[in-house]
Amino acid sequence: MATPHNSANKKDIAKTVLMVGDPIRAKKIAEKYLQDLKEVNNVRGMNTFTGKYHGKRITIMPHGMGCPSVGIYTYELFKFYGVERIVRFGTIGALKAETKVGTIIIAEKSYTKTNYFDFYIKNGASYLSANPELVEKAKRVFEKSNLNVQEGTIYCSDTFYTDEDQVALGKKLNLLGVEMESAGLYINANMFNKQALTICSVSDNLASGEALDAKDRENSFYQAIEYVFKVALEK
Ligand code: HPA
Repeated sequence: MATPHNSANKKDIAKTVLMVGDPIRAKKIAEKYLQDLKEVNNVRGMNTFTGKYHGKRITIMPHGMGCPSVGIYTYELFKFYGVERIVRFGTIGALKAETKVGTIIIAEKSYTKTNYFDFYIKNGASYLSANPELVEKAKRVFEKSNLNVQEGTIYCSDTFYTDEDQVALGKKLNLLGVEMESAGLYINANMFNKQALTICSVSDNLASGEALDAKDRENSFYQAIEYVFKVALEK
């Protein structure tokens, strides 16, 4: 069944979907890691691929930037495509000075003041939860990597360019980092009783000023991707 934003047939979308922000990155990941690859959607250039990762069926789809964008795509995947599990793998700005770029952050909770679906956001701010089983699995899987890993609460902001002191907010509420999509994903997953998790790679640090250039950002992202596939697909 097609939607205004996704032309895929229902049968061409796997029950498990791995999402990243950038369509170019989605294509690269699909071409590098999937077998029996098929492009199943390209509305607005959000190229979506379904294939097999070590024999297990998965769809890789971009979600764009911000809660409204991730909100549209994930709403449709859960409601119209029968998707059961979405793992978002993104980048995040760290809010604690000691966090190194390249660190993996498992977002057990997302603190947000988003306007996306604010019907569900009480009193202007809320904490949304990831699926607890996926959180535990992510901890187990990433323990075996040699990457720095943190798990906890992240801040999902609606604004990249902002006058808000996000580092101060992070200190006050013990927030590990700031990104822009986890809350939109978690709101939809909780609403439809489906599974969701956000895993992020630290691309910059708002407290220390440390940042990766585009190439290093890409490299550190790819160091983690095989673990992300395991989280998404292993029992
Ligand atoms: N702000 C919001 N989203 C982000 C950032 C940031 O600094 N870095 C990566 N995603």
